[in-house]
Amino acid sequence: MNTAILVERISLSDLSEVMEIENACFGVDAFSRRQMFYLMTYAKGTFLVARHDGQLAGYIALITSRRHNTGRVYSIAVSPQYRGQGVGSALLNKAIKYAHIIELKAIFLEVRMDNDSAISLYEKKGFTKRSIRLNYYEDGADAYSMVLGL
Ligand SMILES: CC(C)(COP(=O)(O)OP(=O)(O)OC[C@H]1O[C@@H](n2cnc3c(N)ncnc32)[C@H](O)[C@@H]1OP(=O)(O)O)[C@@H](O)C(=O)NCCC(=O)NCCS
Repeated sequence: MNTAILVERISLSDLSEVMEIENACFGVDAFSRRQMFYLMTYAKGTFLVARHDGQLAGYIALITSRRHNTGRVYSIAVSPQYRGQGVGSALLNKAIKYAHIIELKAIFLEVRMDNDSAISLYEKKGFTKRSIRLNYYEDGADAYSMVLGL
């Protein structure tokens, strides 16, 4: 475990930094500030941020459906300067732990088929590919739909 990385629930004061990372990572597919605000305040689930030596390094939004007892990773991103240091892994670990605690049956997510680093991260955590979603992204790119059974 990297002790320089602290994962905790998001605060309202983190929103601007989260939006900077979101826009840097996802361009036209980025959530708007309004959508991100909704995710962190009203949506069911957990929204976590990772701090690396005190700096906001990344975040994950796991939204839950209590009706289906499942979760969905809506967004996970790590600031380019903090990648490859275990931040994404720490965020996903904590989200999966949360999912276990509230006894979800599974977590779902979509990922661009050419996003090798994210696919590798998800597979390391036990996610498997379940289907392909054609034309899923704004630019027409396809996605893998992945699932982690809990
Ligand atoms: C995907 C992402 C969240 C990974 O975060 P990270 O903090 O760099 O990842 P970690 O350092 O925790 O690495 C965990 C695992 O991810 C995979 N990984 C991370 N960077 C990788 C790279 N450049 N190439 C291949 N695999 C990589 C590896 O499996 C790695 O495990 P390892 O260190 O044992 O090899 C980050 O690259 C990112 O924010 N990308 C842009 C946003 C994005 O694509 N989000 C996912 C949308 S579905």
